[in-house]
Amino acid sequence: MGDEYVLTEPEFLKLASSDETEDLCYPPDVVVRPGSAEEISGILKLANEENIPVTPRGGGTGLSGGCLAVHGGIVVYMDRFQEIVEIDEENFFAVVEAGVVTETFQKEVEKVGLFYPPDPASRGTCFIGGNIAENSGGPRAVKYGVTKDWVYGLEVVLPTGEIINTGGKLLKNVSGYNLTQLFVGSEGTLGIVTKATMKLIPKPNLSAVLMAAFDDPFKACKAVPALFRAGLNPSACEFMERNVMQMALKHLDKSLPNSDAAAQLMIEIDGNDEDRLSREIEKAGAVCDTGGAIDVILAESGQRVNDIWDIRRGAGEAVKSHSIYKEEDTVVPRAKLPDLYVGVKKICEEHGVMSACYGHAGDGNLHVNLLKDTMSDEKWNNELPDVITKIFKHCVSLGGTISGEHGIGLTQKCYLPLAMSEAEINVMRAIKNVLDPNGILNPGKIF
Ligand code: LAC
Ligand code: ZN
Repeated sequence: MGDEYVLTEPEFLKLASSDETEDLCYPPDVVVRPGSAEEISGILKLANEENIPVTPRGGGTGLSGGCLAVHGGIVVYMDRFQEIVEIDEENFFAVVEAGVVTETFQKEVEKVGLFYPPDPASRGTCFIGGNIAENSGGPRAVKYGVTKDWVYGLEVVLPTGEIINTGGKLLKNVSGYNLTQLFVGSEGTLGIVTKATMKLIPKPNLSAVLMAAFDDPFKACKAVPALFRAGLNPSACEFMERNVMQMALKHLDKSLPNSDAAAQLMIEIDGNDEDRLSREIEKAGAVCDTGGAIDVILAESGQRVNDIWDIRRGAGEAVKSHSIYKEEDTVVPRAKLPDLYVGVKKICEEHGVMSACYGHAGDGNLHVNLLKDTMSDEKWNNELPDVITKIFKHCVSLGGTISGEHGIGLTQKCYLPLAMSEAEINVMRAIKNVLDPNGILNPGKIF
């Protein structure tokens, strides 16, 4: 790669030692910034011969410690993979390198009237490669699906150094196993993605946002499945309870109506037909009214809509700036969300732990932040594993699982057996062993 792309100075090692997961810190021995798949292949071949851990790193916005070099070794920072190789307007596909920032990619395709919907809250800094590794979601997943639904082909460097290409610009493809999707969501443990073929669609040109305030979060959660039963297909359906809303408003120094309501739903509907959109917005408002909303407001001005999404995207950071925290990423079938919410609050109350909940209600995906607040270190350390275990058991009992979009990584791996049997985990281990016989790629993650 040349000396300039091999970094061992303490300040670079420090930058690569953490992500957005709690205050975890694992400095690698060296950070490398390769410029091609061939260079990554060389690095992995060497590491495989010498048994050196290699950890791929994208924008560093992960929430389960996926890019942390927990065993030291080499961090492969993907920031030089910057090219949007092709936007194919005939076939509605793009070929994009792994280090392109998600929002940059979105803006580029929008210039030609196309749309790449997945919108993780970190879209301004996260990389497409990281989104693929973690199978990232975001608010629009409720209508458009998560990252996996847009990945149709990959260039991947295997831990042993071979470069493979999977899939392509093909809407149908049953030529063998679906290797593309094996790598999506594999948290950088099976290969390093260098390039991806992503599906695009025409960009809807209209959207509107409703804010529905409730005096009881349970009623807000209950209204969510009712929206879908009414035939609506919102492009976002987000939930925030009062303390999250208030922390986010304070953090961003903004205001919104009904900020003291017990909970709010943010419902976005998009489309291309103005009359239809108005009818759907009206129907969504009526469903919320029937569900007991105390107020429903249509955000008409562009500024108000931008504020709403800034506040929603800022929720995570705002909540985490409140105190030491632990973030969980529970997910259940959508109609079970009210039961999940009530159970989480009850468990937290029983243990005297402060909780702040928000998330992608339309996906049944509730981010549960456990906050230390004024609790003593001793009590926090004693209560936490119990609280988390109870929350996850409750979630699993409702047909859910322990991560919807943040991954297992490092921070959730001790809880994975709550959601998966030994036989199921062994299938994953076997796959890992085939692709990475020496266990050099992102060791210490998932299981
Ligand atoms: C969000 C991140 C935390 O939804 O997933 O804001
Ligand atoms: Zn989220």
